[in-house]
Amino acid sequence: MADIDRVRELLHGASKVVVFTGAGVSAESGIPTFRDALTGLWSNYEAESLATEAGFTADPSLVWRWYASRRAAIRQCEPNAAYHAITRLQSRVDTTVVTQNVDGLHARAGAKDPIELHGNIVRARCFAGCGWRGDVDALEAVDPGVPPHCPRCDAHARPDVVWFGERLSEVAWARAEAACRAADVCLVIGTSGLVHPAAGLPALARSAGASIVVIGPEATRLDDIAEVVLRGRAGEVLPLLVS
Ligand code: APR
Repeated sequence: MADIDRVRELLHGASKVVVFTGAGVSAESGIPTFRDALTGLWSNYEAESLATEAGFTADPSLVWRWYASRRAAIRQCEPNAAYHAITRLQSRVDTTVVTQNVDGLHARAGAKDPIELHGNIVRARCFAGCGWRGDVDALEAVDPGVPPHCPRCDAHARPDVVWFGERLSEVAWARAEAACRAADVCLVIGTSGLVHPAAGLPALARSAGASIVVIGPEATRLDDIAEVVLRGRAGEVLPLLVS
């Protein structure tokens, strides 16, 4: 409890906060991580054949069906109490939300302008890079389950997410870095801290003077740089911090 009070104090005294989230913040909404979702029909596939440019080139239909199934599962889920607490925090203090998740739950919980470092599964973009980007629903309506074509140039459309081996959006990254440099407090929620470059953001915030708070049920790679570690589930801890 003393730790909770300490973090409430930190948040109270902060003029800028950055919230950095990963798959764990969606666990209580029932969204499995990418690897945990490789079950049933998908258990014979590797992440490399479903979430790489090479995998898409080899079998666009397979990759499109995988993302359609992920989207369908995500649409059944609702933002949990952690998401709502983060949105509430934004209404009290200048808070930038930076997420590694592609499920769009921060936006669905009403968060203002979340930075989606790894993209968003409900958007698509042109695989050939003509610059088209749009809502996946419009494409799926044409012929569900078949990889649709880019409405601008007729190449394949692909999910607007960052696949393994791909670079992050420079705009998203620059905004995330700026938020980390400016923050007094950085809440790190539901991430193992293993996947770079995203996992380097809390260290950047710390080197710029922020207090780091790590929230999650298990030890993470980022615990070492934390001023406070709150061991628990995001959906239980966050409402206590922002009540
Ligand atoms: N509340 C908070 N944290 C939780 C909860 C919960 N209810 N349940 C699990 N966790 C923690 C786990 O203990 C783990 O530390 O969430 C973390 C999830 O770690 P990862 O599965 O490695 O997810 P993440 O850090 O987001 O992965 C980063 O890797 O798969 C790629 O691109 C994908 O964005 C993803 C990136």
